[in-house]
Amino acid sequence: MKGIILAGGAGTRLYPITKVYSKQLALIYDKPLIYYPLSILMLAGIKDVLIISNKETIPLYRRLFEDGSQIGMNINYAMQEAPNGIAESFIIGKDFIGQDSVTLVLGDNIFYGKLDYLYDALENHGDGATIFAYRVKDPERYGIVEFNENRKAVSIEEKPKEPKSNYAVPGLYVYDNRVVEISENLEPSARGELEITDVNKVYLNEGKLDVQLIGRGVAWLDTGTPEALLQASNFFGVIEDRQGMKVACIEEIAYKKGFISKNEFQKLIGETPNSLYRDYLARILDEDS
Ligand code: G1P
Repeated sequence: MKGIILAGGAGTRLYPITKVYSKQLALIYDKPLIYYPLSILMLAGIKDVLIISNKETIPLYRRLFEDGSQIGMNINYAMQEAPNGIAESFIIGKDFIGQDSVTLVLGDNIFYGKLDYLYDALENHGDGATIFAYRVKDPERYGIVEFNENRKAVSIEEKPKEPKSNYAVPGLYVYDNRVVEISENLEPSARGELEITDVNKVYLNEGKLDVQLIGRGVAWLDTGTPEALLQASNFFGVIEDRQGMKVACIEEIAYKKGFISKNEFQKLIGETPNSLYRDYLARILDEDS
């Protein structure tokens, strides 16, 4: 299974900060936003990741993650020339994906909670597509899935004016290799984008779309506006402060998932600038000894 993080988009709702850098680099409490979706891929055991962004921002991601080997990963970078839609990821990532299955996570999507079934869906994925559904109060803003009485998905619509349900499709999608060909054959939508919802419709029409409900115990947080960013920061600030444990700390996850050895973790800590973040990593190592 390969992983793609799409970290593009104009992020105009967060202007002026997005005049200088992409929204996925904005701070959520104590780390850049993109750490949160990256950590989801890592927790699902995915080590090969492609980060897709624009020309200006790729150098910043490179500085942040390098080639990923320091956390036992293989991180690649590719450019999306213009915001041509989420499904373009699979065309841009065609060579990277090769013959494998692929999980796409949007760089501004945050998931938090007991996500074992979600990791399971990523780790044991066969044919077809798996997407998720999460109840929201503002369905007009998302891809919306409608279920029949047997909890089977019957339709999906992108940002419907009259939503058929309150179940939004979060930005985490698991596909078999056919997604590349399906994306290559898509026509741009009215807003001029290759829509991920249109990819999902192809799988739905073929009876190959598995839609898993994410329950109320999980947080899927929005990061589209300044208020939403502040709320997400407060949310993780409260949890981290209460437990004394970090969420989405990629170095800790790399160590605990066995992506890097104890020696490598020690070395990584040694190379981390003197900071609260480093103190935390040192404590994790210490508590483990
Ligand atoms: C995109 C997708 C939409 C999905 C949402 C999740 O919306 O098009 O189907 O529900 O991400 O974050 P956009 O980011 O284009 O508003």
